[in-house]
Amino acid sequence: MICNNLSVSDNGHLLFAGLDTVELAKEYKTPLYLLDEARIRERCRTYLSAVKDAFDGNAKVLYASKAASFKRIYEIMKEEGMGTDVVSMGEIYTALRAGFDLSNAYFHSNNKTDEDIAYAMTAGVGHFVVDNAEELYAIAAEANKRDIKQKVLLRLTPGIDPHTYAAISTGKVDSKFGSAIETGQAEEIASLAMRLQGIDLVGFHCHVGSQVFDSDVYLRASDVMLTFIADMKNKYGFETKELDLGGGYGVRYTEADPEIDIHANILSVGAHMKEKAAALGIVLPTVCFEPGRSIVADAGLTLYTVGTVKNIPGYKTYVSVDGGMTDNIRFALYGAPYTLFAADNMSAPCDMKCSVVGRCCESGDIIQENVSLPGTTKRGNIIACLTTGAYHYSMASNYNRLGKPPVVMINEGKSYVAVKRETPEDIANLDL
Ligand code: LLP
Repeated sequence: MICNNLSVSDNGHLLFAGLDTVELAKEYKTPLYLLDEARIRERCRTYLSAVKDAFDGNAKVLYASKAASFKRIYEIMKEEGMGTDVVSMGEIYTALRAGFDLSNAYFHSNNKTDEDIAYAMTAGVGHFVVDNAEELYAIAAEANKRDIKQKVLLRLTPGIDPHTYAAISTGKVDSKFGSAIETGQAEEIASLAMRLQGIDLVGFHCHVGSQVFDSDVYLRASDVMLTFIADMKNKYGFETKELDLGGGYGVRYTEADPEIDIHANILSVGAHMKEKAAALGIVLPTVCFEPGRSIVADAGLTLYTVGTVKNIPGYKTYVSVDGGMTDNIRFALYGAPYTLFAADNMSAPCDMKCSVVGRCCESGDIIQENVSLPGTTKRGNIIACLTTGAYHYSMASNYNRLGKPPVVMINEGKSYVAVKRETPEDIANLDL
């Protein structure tokens, strides 16, 4: 099994976090997102203890809440002592409702509107991660109106390609995110931030991409960023207090994805950065990581019920389930791989190759191709799609006016609803 929170019962049912997924499907109906709370907490603790060891306590872990944003998750993050990264008024509002201390929040996005900026300042968001000079001016103007100094980090692009999916590579010079070091724009915005009234420049941020397995990416990115930090010190006498290295490590969607030792990797990043800072003659700033995917992805799975099994002789077999691109857009967007199981028939031989598709009016509505399922699969069977805790609920849509599935959490052998199922009334409620 690709994650140790999965097992099989004597009657051939898939167990997740110790509970029978077939029973959960009966109780809560499908499609259904499940999340294993213990796994989420374990991942937070792994990162927190790793950064503590790697940076002698001089580090922070911020949960990138775009991976999965709802009230309960911010409560868990608060309890675990995590900071958070937010990117919109919606995420800020949800965090506020959870009682999350927003002084531990970092406000991202490449285009914060004036309304966003004012809202985030009123909410008391601690740090703004600023993408470009226009945004910096807008933040300074709002801060001056309030007679405050807003703490900011500047998002820079270190010019590193992590060779993951193109759509989630963000650290290259040609990117909609950040200001490039290579073109001199990073230095321009840094020197502007140092002198702009209303701005307290705390440090710098970069995020090279997502689903990264290779620590080398972080080593190279940190080299570029630390060199820039040394440059700022030498040219402007500027002392950088924080360096945020962006998102966390990759996760296993299939057996082909490597298993990664997050603690060991962060230790090696820490050792490397200390050496580099010493060689450059600078004090290592507080280092931040912003993992999203690796905190929640394999803490989640989605359950579906099979509707139809259609064989097109000479072509292929389509197994249609009661969800689709509305709850999992990742195959359509990235061709992302997944592992699927016949949750109610784990001991049957998987002798049928098929495409598992959704119920939306769209040919691209595919969960996965070349899936092996039992040849007996028919209407009413339960299918599990693994590793759906990150970027599924948060990227879900209402295409075809389908309601988003509920998020049911499992903790200490008990399940509870964290987010209710969206009903047709919920969706239509905004119509006038
Ligand atoms: N920090 C920043 C500034 C980010 O943009 C991201 C992800 C993260 C942290 C978290 O990265 P992670 O630890 O999750 O790798 N929708 C795509 C992923 C988009 C990632 C966006 N930024 C997917 O489903 O794969």
